[in-house]
Amino acid sequence: MSVTQSIKTILIIGATSGIGEQFARRFHALGKKVIITGRRAERLSSLKSELGSNVESYQWDITDFENLSAQGSQILSAHPDINSVFIVSGLGSLFSFLDPSTSTEAKIIAECNTNVTAQMLLARIFVPHLHSLALKGEPATLLLMGSGMGFLPLGFFPVYSATKTATHSLAVALRQQISRVPDANAKGKFNVVEVVAPYVATDFDKDFRNASLPTPLPLKEFMDDAMVGLDDVDENGKPPKEVAVGSAKPRAELWRASIGKYMNEIGLDC
Ligand SMILES: NC(=O)c1ccc[n+]([C@@H]2O[C@H](COP(=O)([O-])OP(=O)(O)OC[C@H]3O[C@@H](n4cnc5c(N)ncnc54)[C@H](OP(=O)(O)O)[C@@H]3O)[C@@H](O)[C@H]2O)c1
Repeated sequence: MSVTQSIKTILIIGATSGIGEQFARRFHALGKKVIITGRRAERLSSLKSELGSNVESYQWDITDFENLSAQGSQILSAHPDINSVFIVSGLGSLFSFLDPSTSTEAKIIAECNTNVTAQMLLARIFVPHLHSLALKGEPATLLLMGSGMGFLPLGFFPVYSATKTATHSLAVALRQQISRVPDANAKGKFNVVEVVAPYVATDFDKDFRNASLPTPLPLKEFMDDAMVGLDDVDENGKPPKEVAVGSAKPRAELWRASIGKYMNEIGLDC
């Protein structure tokens, strides 16, 4: 079953702009119930009122670690029908470690907290819920927002690249954990999918956009390709592990054909 087919209710963390907002629109247009979150309350309420029914929103700063677990549990108690969670939220910046004036400690901490620490803590909240659905034979999907830079680090984005490598590593580690669960349902029904984006035209680069950077892929093109990937299944009816688009695609494929192949050869799922 494809990811799109399996989604009944999807929680999209980081749906106030860019890629997350577009996924919310696309899934909602397909008749899915969509729960949107982010820090910007006005964006949440305007998207919610524009989309109408079948949408809920929660203002949620995922770097507010003291309240993260309570907020996650509250969303799950209010919407036990969530069978897909997409952690889209993220940020990145361009700087050089050779010139500390190009960065601040606060920016580096925010990047690591948002892209890595929060993601790990969110996985700790939502993976058991998704696993429990799979144990009951229901399809469940965790989607993580990866980047081509997670497979091929770029020096312009030294911290961001490392955080997205962490996203890829988390996806692989979770699949390994799922593969070791004795219950066949849990193995077959719980999928972890990494959506791997190239440089896409969003607000992501609003603070550092400049003419020396390559031209980003238009957001609509990215979304069209990503939605095709999320509709895909292999010969066993399983969704792709990486839904990679544009220049991110050969990078993800190269990983799968090399490290991924080696991991399978030594008996590790990935
Ligand atoms: N655009 C690209 O070139 C590109 C390429 C590869 C991967 N990606 C990844 O795609 C994802 C979405 O980025 P985008 O391009 O769509 O940029 P964007 O428009 O800036 O979206 C970022 C999203 O993350 C949310 N977010 C950031 N910090 C948050 C926090 N502390 N708590 C809750 N939500 C938070 C934002 O919501 P609030 O500000 O309302 O909180 C917003 O919804 C990110 O993970 C990014 O790394 C982007």
